[in-house]
Amino acid sequence: MTRIFSGVKPTGHLTLGNYLGAVRRWAATDQHRADALFCVVDLHALTVEHDPARVRRLSRQAATLLLAAGLDPALCTVFVQSHVDEHARLSYVLECTATDGELRRMIQYKEKSVRARAAGESVRLSLLTYPVLMAADILAYGTDEVPVGDDQTQHVELTRDLAVRFNQRYGHTFVVPKATRPAVAARVMDLQEPTSKMGKSHGATAGIVYLLDEPEVVRKKIMRAVTDSGREVEYDREEKPGVANLLDVLAACEDGNPEELAGVYESYGALKKDTAEAVVELLRPVRERHAELAADPGYVDQVLKEGAERARGMARPTVDAAYRAIGLLPAG
Ligand code: TYM
Repeated sequence: MTRIFSGVKPTGHLTLGNYLGAVRRWAATDQHRADALFCVVDLHALTVEHDPARVRRLSRQAATLLLAAGLDPALCTVFVQSHVDEHARLSYVLECTATDGELRRMIQYKEKSVRARAAGESVRLSLLTYPVLMAADILAYGTDEVPVGDDQTQHVELTRDLAVRFNQRYGHTFVVPKATRPAVAARVMDLQEPTSKMGKSHGATAGIVYLLDEPEVVRKKIMRAVTDSGREVEYDREEKPGVANLLDVLAACEDGNPEELAGVYESYGALKKDTAEAVVELLRPVRERHAELAADPGYVDQVLKEGAERARGMARPTVDAAYRAIGLLPAG
């Protein structure tokens, strides 16, 4: 059976970008067609300035939202990364496979480290090694497919390179995975800055729709989205990134095609109004289910405990095999 692994980082509240680019597909199709694991990757949240209490809170919230979005523990494994030691164990071995040059070339590292230095902050070493831990997340489970948004493609490419290199040097150990992307909305853009990705860790929130935003807030954010000069509703990501982004979001909500939808609208206002309503309706059941689940933290804890046990059992044989292959003496 196909093995699927993906994750979400608790560095902020989950956004519409996370949902359309990744989580919705995990719930709608991935968990039904494969042996799937979905992880709140809390270790990754420590790579930038963080508040310990907030990371803990956001980890629980992310796990609750994954369940609210429809992940079913009877169908898939939902767990928290730090509950399974195998991720960190494998990460070290993969650090001995990766080079500092290839990590320094990662786009997200370049962007985030430049931003941190410009703000006078130091750059944590773990920000550089982040993609290696991500590779460990994926390779520990013999993953075939990694359903992600566009921004993770380069990290999955690195994961493939590391798997191939390790296998060539030390003998076949890892499955070489591939990324899968959604047909539309693989990169949802910020509503106020449509040339930048909608990211949960950004400071300004007016351009970001959070999954737990109240309907009125969602409407306001979308109605105030920056659109482009001119009046024609056209799907042109280069020339009209704001309008194209709204068309992508609407198409994703309606399982439609953004180019065809462009022909339906005669004004930006009408497009915004329909997009706002479509997003409100898309998120309504997630918000409602989240409220129910948040009232029962014992249930979420139990799901995470069982998920971690299952995940551990799946990861251990592969990680043990990698330790043996690279030359470490078995513990007996
Ligand atoms: P993270 O937490 O930034 O995002 C979680 C998922 O949401 C997707 N995504 C988006 N898709 C479309 N438009 C957007 N604006 C948008 N923003 C985020 C991401 O592509 C991702 O699929 N490094 C990962 C977490 C991770 C991981 C892994 C993923 C750690 N280990 C192993 C897969 C497999 C990250 O930061 O995702």
